[in-house]
Amino acid sequence: MERGYDDYKRIIDEHLLDFIPNIDNKSISLYEAMKYSLTAGGKRLRPVLLLAACDFAGGDIREALPYACAVEYIHTYSLIHDDLPAMDNDDLRRGLPTNHKVYGEAIAILAGDGLLTTAFEAINKDMMLYFDSPEKMTKRIKAAYEISKGAGCRGMVAGQVSDIEGEHNEYSNEMLEYIHINKTGALMKSAIRAGLYLGEPSSYMLQNLDVYAENLGLAYQIADDILDEIGNPDELGKAIGSDKKKNKNTYTSLNGLEAAHRRLEELTDNAVEALAPYYDNAEFFRELVLKLKNRRK
Ligand code: IPE
Ligand code: IPE
Ligand code: MG
Ligand code: MG
Ligand code: MG
Repeated sequence: MERGYDDYKRIIDEHLLDFIPNIDNKSISLYEAMKYSLTAGGKRLRPVLLLAACDFAGGDIREALPYACAVEYIHTYSLIHDDLPAMDNDDLRRGLPTNHKVYGEAIAILAGDGLLTTAFEAINKDMMLYFDSPEKMTKRIKAAYEISKGAGCRGMVAGQVSDIEGEHNEYSNEMLEYIHINKTGALMKSAIRAGLYLGEPSSYMLQNLDVYAENLGLAYQIADDILDEIGNPDELGKAIGSDKKKNKNTYTSLNGLEAAHRRLEELTDNAVEALAPYYDNAEFFRELVLKLKNRRK
């Protein structure tokens, strides 16, 4: 049976807390703060991408779950930290007060640290099941490497640093796209690559899906920039106008709304084009990028 977005999302939502270790009762506030942001909602796009990629490459998605949930832990930590007063200083996320508004800044920072670390605890715990199966172990090491690379200093963290430094500099479009590709695209690309590695990808498949992911990631952040100007906060679950308030470089601040929409179309077309070798098999990925172009949340 072909699975769709909602099927993958349901699986993620059902299992999202499975890989959080039993935290000592004395640290219950840490657990509560982590759980608060994880269960506040969210589209689960990155873990859905990971499961869909695993399916696409002929893998078993049940075995991919620790990796998919790990990616959502990393994403959720990045949101908690992104909202902190020292960063974007936002009060609303996923339709609820931001983590630091509820638990205070110190606990919010630590909840983010807890989620990031738990992601790799979950992955390593899974790997330990496969000492006797070098082939399966190899796939998992590759998936873990992709996830750490996308989340780290050559990916999301690097993009966030340039985003923050941009509050005091006006960037070129080239620099802006570097930021967007890193702060948002990198984790999506690694989710897809990790999912593929958990199946049996050819190098040609990895290459094509890389092009798809790069275009999807950039398109996704440009849509986020557009929504920050013209979105509906009730639907978005976060405030609008936050970028202007912080003097952010965004696609719309540099080029205006119309150019942003044109770039979004172009990137969406590129992503669809990258799937051309797969005809009907890549329907999930094709529909997804087309749907995200017009997203309202
Ligand atoms: C928000 O991510 C931050 C960006 C990278 C634009 P999402 O739009 O995926 O937010 P959730 O996970 O659905 O809350
Ligand atoms: C966030 O970009 C990218 C992350 C790595 C969290 P934004 O700062 O634009 O995301 P929102 O608009 O707060 O969700
Ligand atoms: Mg930000
Ligand atoms: Mg932000
Ligand atoms: Mg934004």
